[in-house]
Amino acid sequence: MVKLIVLDIGYGDTKYATIVNGGGKVSLRRQLFPSAVAAVGPNGFSSGPKPKAGQSLTFGGQKYAIGDYASGLSAEFATLARDRAWSEEALVLALSGLVRAVPGGGQVNLTVSLPVSWMSDASRVKSLLRGDHEVKVGRAISLYQVKRVDIMPQGFGVYMAATHALDEKGAPYLSAPDIHHGGAIVIDVGRHTSNFVFVHANSRYDNSLSDSAELGTDIVLRAIQVEASKKHRMTISMSVADRATREGYLSVGSKKVPIKTLVGPAYQDLASRIVSVSQGLVGSRKLGFGCVIIGGGGSKVKPLVAAIKKGFGHNRFIIDRQGQFGNVTGQLIWALGVK
Ligand SMILES: Nc1ncnc2c1ncn2[C@@H]1O[C@H](COP(=O)(O)OP(=O)(O)OP(=O)(O)O)[C@@H](O)[C@H]1O
Ligand SMILES: [Mg+2]
Repeated sequence: MVKLIVLDIGYGDTKYATIVNGGGKVSLRRQLFPSAVAAVGPNGFSSGPKPKAGQSLTFGGQKYAIGDYASGLSAEFATLARDRAWSEEALVLALSGLVRAVPGGGQVNLTVSLPVSWMSDASRVKSLLRGDHEVKVGRAISLYQVKRVDIMPQGFGVYMAATHALDEKGAPYLSAPDIHHGGAIVIDVGRHTSNFVFVHANSRYDNSLSDSAELGTDIVLRAIQVEASKKHRMTISMSVADRATREGYLSVGSKKVPIKTLVGPAYQDLASRIVSVSQGLVGSRKLGFGCVIIGGGGSKVKPLVAAIKKGFGHNRFIIDRQGQFGNVTGQLIWALGVK
């Protein structure tokens, strides 16, 4: 049986989803892990804690630590390369997603989303992913036979997820028909980048009105790091800063220092830049926005979303409920329904 796996490799986290059939029940499995990769020597794991499933693999004769394990092992881990398109790190993250989703190997079909700015590289990514990949996990060798690869821009999955929704009573509906006057601008707000995807009234993605920009929640995380260092003489990692944004305070010793006043201006700044990129893409062509759809991890940050919404004024505004899993959820809907 060919398994379907969908992947969304972000600068912050790699998200994957698959459908599992077990115990008489078919269910959706969605998971994420940090997009961190560290190449290690042959004896790299001999001391310290052992990696968990999917946190290490050997591919092409090279051993890699992945995710939390990579960042715990060394401060010098690589994440996705910003200046290149598809990279070795991206391939290792994709394979790690496969190992976690289908342990032991097998035949798979993949739907992978790429940043809008990488879409010109889509056919090369397809051919790199397609075919056989031998991956060693521990002592076991697994063979993944990638039969088919579909590529879509990050942000389009958010569109699919947001338009195939359930209402308050749990009844399914398509919100697409009512947003179809003027099309929709979808903004997928990530850790380091945001993808802006324009979808026409007929649900067609328009590459010429879409783009990626280096705008993400890390602007805010960096502001927290600077504050922690200046005011509290603390050096904190991005993941500690990330936790602070989710909890609303920074732990300094036993004290909880609220971060609201600190992050407010950073969110405001990020929001206004997001609105101006959208207007630059779509507004100048007098197409206007039939609707604004916001998704990605950034759509879970309330003050940020409020500031973006204010910036768009009267436009219809939809917040995708899937947060970080917006793309993989929509990619799965697409993969199951469209072909
Ligand atoms: N519930 C939440 N509350 C607050 N912040 C959140 C929440 N969920 C996610 N975030 C923030 O949103 C960020 C972006 O998440 P997402 O997974 O969409 O980014 P990414 O796709 O990895 O990044 P990129 O788009 O740059 O490649 C996270 O790194 C985190 O800082
Ligand atoms: Mg993303």
